[in-house]
Amino acid sequence: MLGDKDRIFTNLYGYQPWNLSSARMRGDWDNTAQLMQLGQDTIIDRIKASGLRGRGGAGFPTGTKWSFMPKEPSPTRPNFLVINADESEPGSCKDREIIRHDPHKLIEGALIAGFAMRARAAYIYIRGEYIREAETLFAAVAEAYDAGLIGRNASGSGYDFDVFVHRGAGAYICGEETAMLESLEGKKGQPRLKPPFPAGAGLYGCPTTVNNVESIAVAPTILRRGPEWFSSFGRENNKGTKLFQISGHVEKPCVVEEAMSIPFRELIEKHCGGIRGGWDNLLAVIPGGSSVPLVPAAEIMDVPMDFDGLRAVGSGLGTAAVIVMDKSTDIVRAIARLSYFYKHESCGQCTPCREGTGWMWRVMERLRTGDADISEIDTLQQLTKQVEGHTICALGDAAAWPIQGLIRHFRPEIERRIHEKQGSGLGAMQEAAE
Ligand code: NAI
Ligand code: SF4
Repeated sequence: MLGDKDRIFTNLYGYQPWNLSSARMRGDWDNTAQLMQLGQDTIIDRIKASGLRGRGGAGFPTGTKWSFMPKEPSPTRPNFLVINADESEPGSCKDREIIRHDPHKLIEGALIAGFAMRARAAYIYIRGEYIREAETLFAAVAEAYDAGLIGRNASGSGYDFDVFVHRGAGAYICGEETAMLESLEGKKGQPRLKPPFPAGAGLYGCPTTVNNVESIAVAPTILRRGPEWFSSFGRENNKGTKLFQISGHVEKPCVVEEAMSIPFRELIEKHCGGIRGGWDNLLAVIPGGSSVPLVPAAEIMDVPMDFDGLRAVGSGLGTAAVIVMDKSTDIVRAIARLSYFYKHESCGQCTPCREGTGWMWRVMERLRTGDADISEIDTLQQLTKQVEGHTICALGDAAAWPIQGLIRHFRPEIERRIHEKQGSGLGAMQEAAE
């Protein structure tokens, strides 16, 4: 179990100022040059040994990703680090808290990660709506430059490293790593086909690693406390501590750092004061941000909150944005609303997503009102299968999976609505009126 002394983000709730002097008192920027003296390969090996997996949703092993970068970058084709702070997944709000209250953990992490992968500079791409957070980040970066912690001879290490903050303009798709690179280059934010992965051809065609804010911000603490310390939390393949963001029908919604693999019920009891109206009132949970399928109450209670535990129940950890829904929730309406979100945010570049997200949303709306034909449930299911896996980026999958989860677990509720509407004769009356 995670105690206070084990938490990496000791200022998550902003009880202390975010600024440099306060961050130093919390242990940030403590002899950073000495950490860098470990050497690039040792740093990467230690991050690998810690078991850290990407915290942006996909869970790719972080140290392995860093190791893809060229060890001898050419002067005309430098390595770059891009930090994804475009946090836009519905339910996700952890990177926001890091930037608000602990920005120096991120900036120090950028230097160490950038050094390890021999990057010339880091670009932090921050979500456009995070206005106050961007102000904090700009100010924290300026503090770090003024103190000589980044820039020429960063932290006295002899290594030159710049950090640039770039504000997004409000498009969800710019959180997809290659759309982010396009946007940074000044183009329309549309995903690129992969491969090539960014490590081969990324920002301005140069080798690039894109990492989530949390993945980078935990790196200095992992190196200071040791990879064994980090990997002592969680279980095999699911190591470390993790920021969970719990919203919805709990007594006390919160963002909290916990050990990976904590069972769902324990997470909610310990940090959220339980479910609103008691455990019998729980309907379903979306455990990893809106892109993963929901899990009904009966199946989630003892599930370890990690990559493997949630995959075993047909869902995923994603960003660990846990959306809790009690029995007052109109579950069909909730998923229809998500369908609208994906339709709205599709960049329109590939046909299955551009046409499919709109089509799925329109059927979802008819299911919501009960006006669909019963056969449309199967049509919708087939439609999600036509979209899933047939698009350039993961947005198509993300639009399909919540609907698949709804049909898998709540088909009787969808059918009940249709029968109720048909039984009441309202459907026929409305048709006649039209
Ligand atoms: P992905 O699995 O395609 O890639 C994950 C990372 O590993 C990428 O950085 C990719 O470049 C790298 N990678 C994968 N295979 C590689 C290879 N063979 N060689 C080199 N590098 C490789 O997943 P993707 O599309 O980057 O992310 C999808 C996830 O993002 C979803 O699971 C979702 O939970 C999450 N997400 C998070 C959001 C947020 O606000 N944080 C918003 C929307 C989605
Ligand atoms: Fe754009 Fe959707 Fe295709 Fe992704 S899947 S590239 S968002 S159209």
